[in-house]
Amino acid sequence: MAYAAGVDVGSTQTKAVLIDEDRRIVSRALTDTGANVIQAAERSFREALAAGNLPEEEVEYVVGTGYGRYKVTFGNTQVTEISCHGRGAAHMFPATRTVIDMGGQDTKAIRVSPTGEIQDFCMNDKCAAGTGRFLGAASSALDIPLPDLGPTALRGDRPVKISTTCTVFAESEVLSWLGKGKRIEDILLGVHQSIAARSAGLLRRVGVEEEVTFTGGVARNVAMIAALEERIGARVNVSEESHYMGALGAALFALDRILASRAPARSTREDA
Ligand SMILES: Nc1ncnc2c1ncn2[C@@H]1O[C@H](COP(=O)(O)OP(=O)(O)OP(=O)(O)O)[C@@H](O)[C@H]1O
Ligand SMILES: [Mg+2]
Repeated sequence: MAYAAGVDVGSTQTKAVLIDEDRRIVSRALTDTGANVIQAAERSFREALAAGNLPEEEVEYVVGTGYGRYKVTFGNTQVTEISCHGRGAAHMFPATRTVIDMGGQDTKAIRVSPTGEIQDFCMNDKCAAGTGRFLGAASSALDIPLPDLGPTALRGDRPVKISTTCTVFAESEVLSWLGKGKRIEDILLGVHQSIAARSAGLLRRVGVEEEVTFTGGVARNVAMIAALEERIGARVNVSEESHYMGALGAALFALDRILASRAPARSTREDA
């Protein structure tokens, strides 16, 4: 049995996925990227190997992706995260035509063909206002752990209107709403709705065609799923693997290489 690995070194978190030659996920690992990107890549890979109880030699091919893909020093090649999220999403949800990847720093809208190829994509410019980082700012301003943001926001019913378009000011706007006596759940609902509105804008630029698959760490956030669905008027696919979708796509590309290298070489005898 051959094994392949994908390592997605994101700006915020690094994900590793190991798959077997039947395209089944063997194990996964997640770690904060932090300042030492090379170490984060190595750590996630080692943790995935340990979780899958696999020695490193069993992994025949490693593809790096994400903003730090060139820091996967043990990788065999690199593939862009757009391609990897598209590939992972199309694998998990074969009817996917549109992918929205919300990570720590970037949000990307991707249109894929019925066969999973990338047809178009669009991402937020340098601004992180529609991304996980904006949620991180709200989380620290309100002193609510990241995993609790979504469930808290779902309890809101009178969302505040978030006007800032910049993460740098998000914290002060959130605090000013708190000072005006707004409930935390209503502030958070407003934060989620403002991010959903920005993401929907990106999606419209590539065209929202169903099915829509939501990938990246922010897909763990239940309030963001709800806000996005409401904003685009369509259901989105989310899975336990959503956070790992880029790494899964990278692992699938790695497996392609393994299988291609095994294809019998064309005989030249007939030509001679
Ligand atoms: N348990 C969780 N609950 C809610 N949100 C979470 C959770 N874990 C991570 N996140 C969100 O996911 C984000 C990180 O997602 P991801 O790992 O996809 O980003 P990245 O790939 O590092 O960033 P980028 O793709 O922008 O370079 C965090 O900023 C956070 O908002
Ligand atoms: Mg990412």
